[in-house]
Amino acid sequence: MSLSFSPQRRSDPVPAEERAAILADPGFGKHFTDHMAQATWTQGEGWHDARVTAYGPITLMPSAAVLHYAQEIFEGMKAYRHADGSIWTFRPEANAARFQRSARRLALPELPAEDFVNSLKALVDVDQEWVPSGEAGEASLYLRPFMFASEAFLGVRPAAEVTYCVIASPAGPYFKGGVNPVSIWLSSNYTRAAQGGTGAAKCGGNYAASLAAQIEAAEHGCEQVAFLDGAEHTWVEELGGMNLYFVHRDGRIVTPELSGSILEGVTRDSILSIAKDLGLSAEERRISIDDWREGARSGEITEVFACGTAAVVTPVGRLAWDGGEVTTGADGNPTALKIRQALLDIQYGRAEDTHGWLTRLA
Ligand code: COI
Repeated sequence: MSLSFSPQRRSDPVPAEERAAILADPGFGKHFTDHMAQATWTQGEGWHDARVTAYGPITLMPSAAVLHYAQEIFEGMKAYRHADGSIWTFRPEANAARFQRSARRLALPELPAEDFVNSLKALVDVDQEWVPSGEAGEASLYLRPFMFASEAFLGVRPAAEVTYCVIASPAGPYFKGGVNPVSIWLSSNYTRAAQGGTGAAKCGGNYAASLAAQIEAAEHGCEQVAFLDGAEHTWVEELGGMNLYFVHRDGRIVTPELSGSILEGVTRDSILSIAKDLGLSAEERRISIDDWREGARSGEITEVFACGTAAVVTPVGRLAWDGGEVTTGADGNPTALKIRQALLDIQYGRAEDTHGWLTRLA
């Protein structure tokens, strides 16, 4: 039987003027709506106690397994307001399926896709006034479903009690510079993931492991890190929080093929289809770091861009490493911007949803 996320509305929501001020300049990940969705899983009962309650602290024992062994997964999605006021999300079944794959890898219980989608609908229904108008830029309500081992137990085994939660945060562009090109540091000291590891799962541990490299990037004046494969340190994988695409001189776009250690991005996958809609050929294949460096130098690679739910499509300008750098995008990244516009037009209901990617939330 499917879960029912019954709403318990809070009596003290954020005042309307304060909410309006937040929506006028939301930033990314700083402000949260009035409510959150939650459900509990126990070995005996399975999923139960689904509800939408006031956003606020979660009580955990200091011995909660997630705090020690990082048994945790999450998703990133957005709710978009269309011109008629209706609210939609993008390919939620793809995120639900990835959440299940991540759960299997982290030995967490799978949440049925229907319950996943219902939790988003229930939360967004109660907090609809927090979904910004989509007219200006790329404002949306960022949705963050996550699941963690809440059992108070220090033995190393899959937790017998797990908490599922969805929080929501009004969001503008992920990068301060908006669509201005970002610079990338090539990490040679760190690897994000290895074959057989958790690279394809969306688990907090992967992001924790990327932070030291992210600090190194900042020390070199870069905004993001590019990771190479863990075995040969040759093949371009991803940026830790975003996938990568390369645009060739002949218009072809290429993204690193899924290796088991790359996150299977929903935006990455959608761009493969959007490219075809735009008459561009799109390929998934291995791309070496030398392909990137030499291609940028020779002009064979004209643009590089990052993509993800949070980042949408963001051009990459400079790739720097210990001893050198190359830049792409001298022409102003027209292909990246065209793909970005096509994606946003579908998400905001300005273009026909020919792939059936949108689901109405409210
Ligand atoms: C997303 O794009 O939604 C992510 O989860 C990536 C994170 C770096 C914000």
